[in-house]
Amino acid sequence: MDSFGREVDYLRISITDRCNERCLYCLPENYQNWLPRGEVLAYEELLASVRAATTQGFKRFRVTGGEPLIRPGVVNFIRDLAATPGVESVMLSTNGTRLPELAWPLYEAGLRRVNISLDALDPAIYRGITQGDVRPVLEGIRRVKAIGYDSVKLNTVLMRGRNDGEIFRLLDFAAEHDIAIRFIELMPVSLTEMLSEKNFFPVTELLARLQREDELEPLTDALGFGPAQYYRLKKRGVTVGLIGALSNLHFCERCNKMRLTCDGKLRPCLGNHLETDLLPALRPQIDPQALAELFRQTLVVKPSEHLFRQNYQPQRVMTAIGG
Ligand code: 5AD
Ligand code: SF4
Repeated sequence: MDSFGREVDYLRISITDRCNERCLYCLPENYQNWLPRGEVLAYEELLASVRAATTQGFKRFRVTGGEPLIRPGVVNFIRDLAATPGVESVMLSTNGTRLPELAWPLYEAGLRRVNISLDALDPAIYRGITQGDVRPVLEGIRRVKAIGYDSVKLNTVLMRGRNDGEIFRLLDFAAEHDIAIRFIELMPVSLTEMLSEKNFFPVTELLARLQREDELEPLTDALGFGPAQYYRLKKRGVTVGLIGALSNLHFCERCNKMRLTCDGKLRPCLGNHLETDLLPALRPQIDPQALAELFRQTLVVKPSEHLFRQNYQPQRVMTAIGG
């Protein structure tokens, strides 16, 4: 529990800052400033951190990046994570590009829940946003559905003038494949200065649009473990989640998560520069007790809410922090 009485049991783990795409809202086009490999936590160090987290009440763990599926050894890491005592749920967030070949090995390793970024269906619009090819992503989505993962969700970051024209096609695609889709407001977390009055598309506006076009039923049972507000679109037969870090003033009230950056900093809040460096408890030797104590101390200082409305400046790439 944190000092505001919130049950914090969910840790997002960035296992690499590298990515094979260059999303407009995330990485600068020619970004090459990757952390040297030795600065990224080794899998053994990540697992030691997870064990320390379980002693402080963490039960659910999401593997993120960068793009987690480009790190060699990720399948075995997921297997070890899922087998760690106290770990009740293992989840993955991916851009989907490597799912065609990894969907089955990951399932076999114990993964059952996956979120896939899909900002557009139209190949040209998709490429305009990510610089990449949408086809392997669509193939990856088909694979995870065919295998029968327990939870598959799509994530779409909304950008006015870029993909707001894709909203209904994406909804139809999600309905057709029986997948929940979440629309995410741009946040000031990247170094690319995408977030501007011009690009920002508030989820409140999306909600109004959906209300005009469909019949909405608010879903009260949380579908996931995060701050999305879910609705069932009755005409289309699809579940939609809205993630409005800026327009939803209650966004942080039930925050249940912290983040571990790929270079070993524990972040109690995405929208706050507070970080606890775990390295002194990891190198040169892993000290389980010291690690557990650092988790405990970080929980105590977890802020009540993010600073996104106070001219927050990210200072480092989101990929290292874990989206
Ligand atoms: N605004 C909102 N979401 C972002 N993500 C990355 N950058 C941003 C941003 N600036 C999230 C998205 C994406 C995942 C990898 O990280 O959910 O799908
Ligand atoms: Fe890569 Fe995800 Fe960032 Fe896009 S948002 S560049 S897929 S880490």
